[in-house]
Amino acid sequence: MKMSFDFTDLAPTTVSFRDDVIVGLTQQLKKTSPMHLYDERGSQFFEQICELEEYYVTRAEMEIFDAAALHISEALPSNCTIVEYGSGSDRKISQLLKLSKRIKGYVPIDISKTFLLKMSKKLWQNYPHLDIHAICANFLQLDTDHIAKIIDGYNPVVFFPGSSIGNLSADEITKLLMQTKKIIGGQGKMILGIDLQKTEEVLLQAYDDSKGVTALFNKNLIHRMNRELQTNIDANCFKHHAIYNENKNRIEMHLKALQDLHFWIGDYEITLQKNETIHTESSQKYNVDDFSRFLNTVGFKVESIFFDTKKYFVVLLLALKK
Ligand SMILES: C[S@@+](CC[C@H](N)C(=O)[O-])C[C@H]1O[C@@H](n2cnc3c(N)ncnc32)[C@H](O)[C@@H]1O
Repeated sequence: MKMSFDFTDLAPTTVSFRDDVIVGLTQQLKKTSPMHLYDERGSQFFEQICELEEYYVTRAEMEIFDAAALHISEALPSNCTIVEYGSGSDRKISQLLKLSKRIKGYVPIDISKTFLLKMSKKLWQNYPHLDIHAICANFLQLDTDHIAKIIDGYNPVVFFPGSSIGNLSADEITKLLMQTKKIIGGQGKMILGIDLQKTEEVLLQAYDDSKGVTALFNKNLIHRMNRELQTNIDANCFKHHAIYNENKNRIEMHLKALQDLHFWIGDYEITLQKNETIHTESSQKYNVDDFSRFLNTVGFKVESIFFDTKKYFVVLLLALKK
């Protein structure tokens, strides 16, 4: 990396959005990948969610970064570059940059191209001495040799904040962690945010807020289909439906059809019966001891654990086991 701003577009969504939606909506249990909630509009809605009183995740994690500032800063390798999966806004990296002078580079990776470009340019204006290389890509499909070339000369720190890991399946988490091991190698670190199990009441309020912002975020999938897949579906025919699945310790977001529906995506006919749902996102809630044990089995050492005061959320500082 040189002291500069770079942008690489690996065009991750152009083909897969259409194909994934067709596959997902022609199954018996209809389902779409959570990544499809994020186009520019979806990223903007997510930013509004982060400001909501009911959405505790962002506040809890920022509280942790404030309280553990010195510890995290001293744990980062000198001369490091932060590789952030699903970077979203510049809020959390700005917080880390305030904490530590050891950070020399930043590689934000996100699927939401326009938002990524805006946020990384804004960050570069505020931190012109930072080497920034933004990559529009699916973080589950990274070419680790390409990442190694980009971070050449710096010590890598993979940053995966928020509760995004909870949106992934068990196989995807394992794949992501294997990829992370290749990126950070022996000298690097990972800073990982984990959302913890808590009462159903707190969780349901966070994922079905009183202002209806999460509902708009979820329904953006339908608007996105209309914009990009030439459908003409009335989003009012769907209701945002968040449930807590107690057996699986996860919040599920669905779009529930309020009437029988019928539409086409190209040559593919999609039908939904009244009350049938499209499962758009799961958000797994963890027990920190269980998750730490799992990390251990896949080769990570948990170096530090930081909780917020309510113990709603945890940030783990990880390195590879020797
Ligand atoms: C829940 S938001 C978290 C944003 C930010 N990291 C935070 O903690 O506030 C998830 C972010 O990851 C991005 N994203 C979701 N799935 C992705 C994928 N498979 N590859 C790349 N980016 C993804 C979204 O566009 C969005 O910016």
